[in-house]
Amino acid sequence: MDMRSVSSVLLLPFQILYYTVKATLRFFLPNSRRNLSGDVVLITGGGRGIGRHLAREFARCGAKKLILWGRTEKCLKETCEEIALLGTECHYFVCDVANREEVYNQAKVIREKVGDVTILVNNAAVVHGKSLMDSDDDALLKSQHINTMGQFWTTKAFLPRMLELQNGHVVCVNSILSLSPIPGTIDYCTSKASSLAFMESLALGLLDCPGVGCTTVLPFHTNTEMFQGMRVRFPRLFPPLKPEMVAQRTVDAVRTGTAFIYLPWTMHILVILKSILPQHALEEIHKFSGAYTCMHTFKGRT
Ligand SMILES: NC(=O)c1ccc[n+]([C@@H]2O[C@H](COP(=O)([O-])OP(=O)(O)OC[C@H]3O[C@@H](n4cnc5c(N)ncnc54)[C@H](OP(=O)(O)O)[C@@H]3O)[C@@H](O)[C@H]2O)c1
Repeated sequence: MDMRSVSSVLLLPFQILYYTVKATLRFFLPNSRRNLSGDVVLITGGGRGIGRHLAREFARCGAKKLILWGRTEKCLKETCEEIALLGTECHYFVCDVANREEVYNQAKVIREKVGDVTILVNNAAVVHGKSLMDSDDDALLKSQHINTMGQFWTTKAFLPRMLELQNGHVVCVNSILSLSPIPGTIDYCTSKASSLAFMESLALGLLDCPGVGCTTVLPFHTNTEMFQGMRVRFPRLFPPLKPEMVAQRTVDAVRTGTAFIYLPWTMHILVILKSILPQHALEEIHKFSGAYTCMHTFKGRT
């Protein structure tokens, strides 16, 4: 081993310690936050659900312009009007993120009509709420195309300009189900797991790219239409999150440059348990919490 390699090996434990202490302190101390006044924010699935709350929160935090994408014009228009009333310039475009050509074409239109997107929020997703055998093949493909591939196309459309400007942030609204899947929603869990791998890979790929970062948000069950009708065994013990809280924490993570957030933070415990407990013990936790069967009670959202 040459001298350089020896010194980097010796340095590594100190670097790990330094960044761990720094992250812990950041948790307790006030952080500097990104000023959003120059940012053009694009939110996929921005017409309703968490996306609509994200639009409100970015506007409240002073974003310069908002752009909303989705398939349903009515809710995009309503949200856009609401944001405009808050005093923030807002545009909407009907765009199916699963359709690569449509994404590239609309990205071009946005660049010409609105400007360079500096914050891209990949939020759009669907869920089929059926087991593998009960799902038809096209439905299975559709959720992979929207939830996973859609991010390939949007990121390819907007990241190059962010890199040129040395100014940008890519956000993924993922799910805790990417790390702890449950049955009855196999398409969704698979798409979210590959989307998490996409973001982990992207985060490392951006290490040498000044001014450009990313954030992945992993929320627990949230009170929107997506999992409407789903009954959990202990609703008081595991209440759904409020979408406004998910939006607030997401925007704050973008502003503080936080790479990954679990919502609520107690989800860290689940991830730790998952990595140390034997499979049978985990199965008992799933059975006890009702996560095993809760998906039988909802119909999906496509
Ligand atoms: N709700 C939860 O319990 C929960 C928990 C963890 C993570 N999440 C994640 O949070 C994100 C938002 O979910 P939500 O709860 O707000 O669900 P939602 O209310 O069903 O909203 C989904 C949004 O995605 C849009 N969308 C769906 N397919 C699209 C496509 N092909 N192209 C463009 N837009 C599309 C929908 O608009 P159109 O239908 O008009 O296209 C809608 O605006 C998702 O990524 C979801 O996986 C949700």
